[in-house]
Amino acid sequence: MIKVSNNIINVGVDDKNIDLFEGQYKVPFGMRYNSYLILDDKTCLLDTVDSNFKDEFLSNVKSSLGDRTLDYLVIHHMEPDHSALISEIVKLYPDVNILISVQGLAMLRNFFPEDENVTKHVKVTKEGDILELGHHSLHFIGAPFIHWPEVMMSYEENEKILFSADAFGRFGTYDSVENFHDESRRYYIGIVGKFGLQVKNLLNKALKLDIKKICSLHGNLLEGDLTPYIKDYITYANYDSEDNDVTIAYGSVYGHTKEAALLLKDELEHLGKKVYLFDLARDDIHEAISRAFAHKNLVIASVTYNNGLFPCVRNFIENLTERNFQKKNVSFIENGSWGPMANKVMKDLLANSKEINYIGEGVTIRSAINPIVRGNIKALAEAIANSDN
Ligand code: FEO
Repeated sequence: MIKVSNNIINVGVDDKNIDLFEGQYKVPFGMRYNSYLILDDKTCLLDTVDSNFKDEFLSNVKSSLGDRTLDYLVIHHMEPDHSALISEIVKLYPDVNILISVQGLAMLRNFFPEDENVTKHVKVTKEGDILELGHHSLHFIGAPFIHWPEVMMSYEENEKILFSADAFGRFGTYDSVENFHDESRRYYIGIVGKFGLQVKNLLNKALKLDIKKICSLHGNLLEGDLTPYIKDYITYANYDSEDNDVTIAYGSVYGHTKEAALLLKDELEHLGKKVYLFDLARDDIHEAISRAFAHKNLVIASVTYNNGLFPCVRNFIENLTERNFQKKNVSFIENGSWGPMANKVMKDLLANSKEINYIGEGVTIRSAINPIVRGNIKALAEAIANSDN
């Protein structure tokens, strides 16, 4: 267990054996599920953890409470990685009062259809409500769609802590420091990337508060200078780029499209550009997606396949558009031995994406790289490098 302060304990758990978070995200550094216990005149637990950690979590809660009972359980988010053990908490502390949003209450009933006790002592809570615990008071903030519609956050006034639900979380266990920034971005883009508008609304409210610490449901305690984390969230919410680097994402069958992607990478690096290259059939697609949002320039290269795109390339683009991909410089490379179609299909898929600036002529390869294609790739690299001015 980890102390947040003298009277607040993180009773959450680390998951070091998880293969995929939410059934799709690779988490090589594990995953953290936080739950916080406030010990004051009244005791209050904020959220629970994933069902796989029932014994460890309940033991953490019981030993932290000692011989005290649990007065309140605040549910900020009903996704099962945080809500799965609500009925176990109610079993242990049958008189506990549950505070939850109105949308959360409907989900609580749906997730625990055969446990009437979970809704026995429920108080529906909304933005502006305050829970007094003694020296601590929790001010509730509506945070719909960060990440589900029922989400609430709370601000503890005495210690100036924002309990931020999924926001400001990251992939990795509590202590993992590997690729901290990249794993925070990959988490954000994957989980709440679609909801930039809602994140902006939340930031408008949260930034009026005097926040000393941020306690997310994932990752570690954020304290000290919080400016870098908040700056990142402003960048993400506005769909701004972090820099003018280039992401190249390709799908190749026999290696010729890959060769084109590698040639372009060499040309761009020769021109001083930093390039992140992804084989969409083999590399982590969510890292490629995160990079596509982070950097100003994106090049997508695909073979023409069944008169359309190679499946992993289509999947990549659809992952971008469903997260409101926008404000980028985009270029295309296609390959087609008899009827190249990929460039047109890629552009069609991005038709509803806002503020896309198409750079260079779409390069077409007819089977293998030849001197003309080589020249076109060199010209594309120059157009991308010049587009940053
Ligand atoms: Fe960590 Fe949206 O659950």
